[in-house]
Amino acid sequence: MDTVLSGIRSTGNLHLGNYFGAVKNFVKMQHENRCFFFVADYHALTTHPKPENLHDNIKKVLSEYLAAGLDPEVATLYIQSDVPEIIELYLLLNMNAYVGELERTTTFKEKIRKQPENVNAGLLTYPVLMCSDIIIHQADKVPVGKDQEQNLEMARKFAKRFNHMYGVEYFKLPEPYNFGDELVKVPGLDGTGKMGKSDGNGIFLADEPSVIRKKVMRAVTDAGPKEVNSTMPEPVANLFYLLDLLSTPDTVEHFRSAYHDCSIRYGDLKKQLAEDIINFTTPIRERINDIYNDSDYLRKVVNMGAEKARASASKTLREVREILGYRPF
Ligand code: TYM
Repeated sequence: MDTVLSGIRSTGNLHLGNYFGAVKNFVKMQHENRCFFFVADYHALTTHPKPENLHDNIKKVLSEYLAAGLDPEVATLYIQSDVPEIIELYLLLNMNAYVGELERTTTFKEKIRKQPENVNAGLLTYPVLMCSDIIIHQADKVPVGKDQEQNLEMARKFAKRFNHMYGVEYFKLPEPYNFGDELVKVPGLDGTGKMGKSDGNGIFLADEPSVIRKKVMRAVTDAGPKEVNSTMPEPVANLFYLLDLLSTPDTVEHFRSAYHDCSIRYGDLKKQLAEDIINFTTPIRERINDIYNDSDYLRKVVNMGAEKARASASKTLREVREILGYRPF
């Protein structure tokens, strides 16, 4: 039986990228594997959330996980900050992570560009904390989107280095995972790049139908194909990507052939896409609201998850301390 683990930052609501990149795979895998899924609320600190919002952010993301189909009786569902063992392992791993390699990671370089006023050390060592999240439970598979590929590569590197430095075969080397051949990158509605929490280009699972319609109708396209069978520019290809995820094969085929014979009307495509998204998200949105308002249930889920996650994490930490040479007096 494989150990499967994944997490999502508590920085904002879950969007279609989070769902199709990570949560959907996880939901499918939870019954056949030893599964851990967590809310990464320490990772969220890199962008300095306000203390008055922190708890509610966590509660929202947790409710969304549950509404999307994670079963807390089957998988271990927990909040990262409820498991202090992760942080001790993070500190130990930081001693074997080199500043040069951390500075070269794409996500760090991107953050420097996007938020030059807040290049904190937590951002630099973000991949080390992620590695700790993963290897503290000896995960084999990590269902993530394409954007996390490099972080997973670093996690493997740090795990391997630990084994090598101490002459042990202790940590497993975690693999990024998707059911298809490739990791998924769900595009945003702004014509270019991936769907993101803070990029203003996303559809959230909790969005009301009217909001979804508005967002989709405003999605970037172009003036339309001029020649039969022409190649789609990125903004249009992105809409087709979403259509592929959410609509029936007949619908996709209909619009694809309309594109190729130049009869397509983007307005029709968008209307259809919006309705198909709404059909998909409506039951989830309704469950989110119910779960979010059920504090007793959430408390139960979190306590149960923390207990199970700490049992697994403390075993690893005990063994790691021993490997490093920490002994009781
Ligand atoms: P986060 O919160 O940005 O995203 C959570 C998960 O959603 C996936 N994802 C996407 N997949 C496809 N297309 C997209 N547009 C898209 N946007 C997001 C991400 O790949 C991710 O799987 N650092 C992580 C959280 C984390 C974690 C971990 C994940 C912390 N520790 C350990 C796995 C294992 C993050 O910020 O994800």
